[in-house]
Amino acid sequence: MSWGLQSRMARIIRGDGHGVMLAVDHGYFMGPTRRLEKPRETIAPLLPHTDSIMITRGVLRNCVDPKADVPVVLRVSGGTSILNEDLSKEAVTTSVRDAVRLNASAVALSIFVGAPHEHQSLVALGGLVNECEEIGLPVLAVTAVGKELEKRDARYLGLATRIAAEFGAHLVKTYHCDDFHKVVEGCPVPVVIAGGPKLDTEMDAFQLTYDAIHDGAVGVDMGRNIWQNDHPVAMIRAVRAIVHEGASVKEAGDVFRSLREGKKGRK
Ligand code: 5RP
Repeated sequence: MSWGLQSRMARIIRGDGHGVMLAVDHGYFMGPTRRLEKPRETIAPLLPHTDSIMITRGVLRNCVDPKADVPVVLRVSGGTSILNEDLSKEAVTTSVRDAVRLNASAVALSIFVGAPHEHQSLVALGGLVNECEEIGLPVLAVTAVGKELEKRDARYLGLATRIAAEFGAHLVKTYHCDDFHKVVEGCPVPVVIAGGPKLDTEMDAFQLTYDAIHDGAVGVDMGRNIWQNDHPVAMIRAVRAIVHEGASVKEAGDVFRSLREGKKGRK
């Protein structure tokens, strides 16, 4: 791994081997997702509390202050919207050159293993890794499941994450599931988890985070469970406590409640 690639990776996965990535790229296929309708307002208060941000170039350019010192994981794939039954027809939509121009620390692309456009998404991953290796830019592969959330089991996710690593991804995002440790064991590069749709309670999100870290994930790439909460800053700080400080689920709950009580409202 080149020095530049290692250096960029270290901006995302911090010195303690863990990382909190804030996912705000949902609009690329979901449009103005609930509570991400005005990205600038959602993102700004969370920036001081995240290690990196996963985002599209359009929202980055228009809704994030270029002076903000936050490592960017730039989503570079897309091509279908939530209106389409098959979400797998994605291609690279943002060039590596533009990613560099935007000072990205990594680029992210979805793969759709087992879906109608599996082949094109995997070939796109290979091509992107080829290009990014040339300049030392890490590639995050997202094991996307489209609308089939029930696909999230260890057998499927183990297959998808392993294929992503075999194609050369430097980091893989997937979902937590039963027997998640098997997914991590079968994937020779670091794994982060998405939060998925908002869970019923904060404690459910903390339990998910705790289980993922204890099963071997290096961190989270979480969106809706943070910014769809009424107290997004309290949420991300409690998630951080689990990821970086080894907090238990109960301790994360205490962090959340004390911050929520301290600052009422969407702060
Ligand atoms: C969409 C994505 C999202 O970034 C990912 O799903 C993480 O966000 P959330 O925690 O809301 O699931 O990659 O394809």
